Amino acid sequence: MGRTLAAAIGIASIAAAAVASAEPPAGAASCSGCHPASTRVTSPVPRLAGLDRAAIVRAMQDFRSGQRAATVMDRIAKGFTDEEIQAIAAWYATQK
Ligand code: HEC
Repeated sequence: MGRTLAAAIGIASIAAAAVASAEPPAGAASCSGCHPASTRVTSPVPRLAGLDRAAIVRAMQDFRSGQRAATVMDRIAKGFTDEEIQAIAAWYATQK
């Protein structure tokens, strides 16, 4: 598991470098319906932009597996594959 994840993150970082300033990957736009894009918005839902890529991946996987308690993220995380999570996390990590 650890090695698979490390390999996946390695691939994601190559992909992220290639698309650093490009359009958000599939699914990423849906996150901003709840996670505010702007620092000026006051919301109980934390911003994703600028979060550590590995932290987003871990949170999504923990939500999906039920290891981390959630109100809505467990259901949302189940809708994404590992590849999609990697791409979304890599993209958000490059946003400010
Ligand atoms: C319907 C609203 C909603 C949408 C859409 C949504 N989230 Fe969330 N997110 C939440 C809430 C609420 C929490 C707090 C945990 C909970 O109660 O489920 C959260 C927590 C998180 C966290 C943990 C943040 C932290 O630092 O604790 C991550 C990472 C995350 N969401 C990623 C995403 C991603 C990636 C997407 C898009 C694929 C997304 N979310 C879409 C509402 C949403």
